[in-house]
Amino acid sequence: MMRNAFIGAARIAVVLAAAVFLAAPVAQAQLYPRAEPEFPEVNWSFDGLFGTFDRAAAQRGFQIYNEVCSNCHSLKQAYYRDLIGIGLNEQQVKDVAASKRVPAIDDNGQPTERPALPSDHFRSPFHNEKAARAANNGGLPPDLSVIVKAREGGPDYVYAILTGFADPPAGFKLMEGLNYNHFFAGHQIAMPQPLRDGTVTYTDGTNNALDQEARDVVTFLTYIANPELEERHRMGVKVVLFLLFLTGLTYTIKRRLWANVDH
Ligand code: HEC
Repeated sequence: MMRNAFIGAARIAVVLAAAVFLAAPVAQAQLYPRAEPEFPEVNWSFDGLFGTFDRAAAQRGFQIYNEVCSNCHSLKQAYYRDLIGIGLNEQQVKDVAASKRVPAIDDNGQPTERPALPSDHFRSPFHNEKAARAANNGGLPPDLSVIVKAREGGPDYVYAILTGFADPPAGFKLMEGLNYNHFFAGHQIAMPQPLRDGTVTYTDGTNNALDQEARDVVTFLTYIANPELEERHRMGVKVVLFLLFLTGLTYTIKRRLWANVDH
């Protein structure tokens, strides 16, 4: 009796282990469900079970956010100290923060500004939505903190938007103040094309073609939205290794238990 129950349990364990092992890559692949198949498919350093953030790319991406996107888009959920995660050291983070001014209250209770600290949130370009719309032809630049999670296609979608600007096809009626984009719903976007070949000059001397700039800023934005991604991947690998071990163990036990049974 005992033995039968044990064998039954071992069998269930083997099936479960196999199921989880097979399901892991599927769950991973669905992290960013793909909306439209015609998005360019980009190979990201952070893809897959072993993916990590390319630190140099993320730092160049921060340079782009800082010099270009931050003129219109906030990154409200990020703190300056988060830059440690892409490889900046403490002094560099302090310097970046100190170069920004954030709202504060002075000794008389009046609103003022002070240099930011590493513990401050990234500064926002506009005080409120009205000011943001007024400066953008009525369009509202969304906060970019979780944009790669908020849109179907994730990083591929943001890359597609950044590289998808073009002249409208003949006969396309483009509304005043909007720009043609292959991948934006309806193809009319209030954002003027933010990146072109050579928009930034990289401090590390990397070739600044549009494709590179778009990849780098998307790598940075993906880090900001998923700072725990590498830890999650490490855990995933451990779980899979453990399940493999467990599968081997249950199989060996099963062989031993059945060794002397006629069947
Ligand atoms: C001149 C201001 C401006 C700059 C600079 C700018 N954007 Fe935008 N962005 C906008 C506006 C306005 C919208 C809203 C578009 C709309 O709703 O039609 C937008 C929308 C977006 C969207 C959202 C598309 C969607 O699905 O809603 C993404 C992603 C984006 N911007 C990324 C960036 C990145 C990355 C940069 C820097 C490389 C950048 N933007 C620079 C103004 C700007």
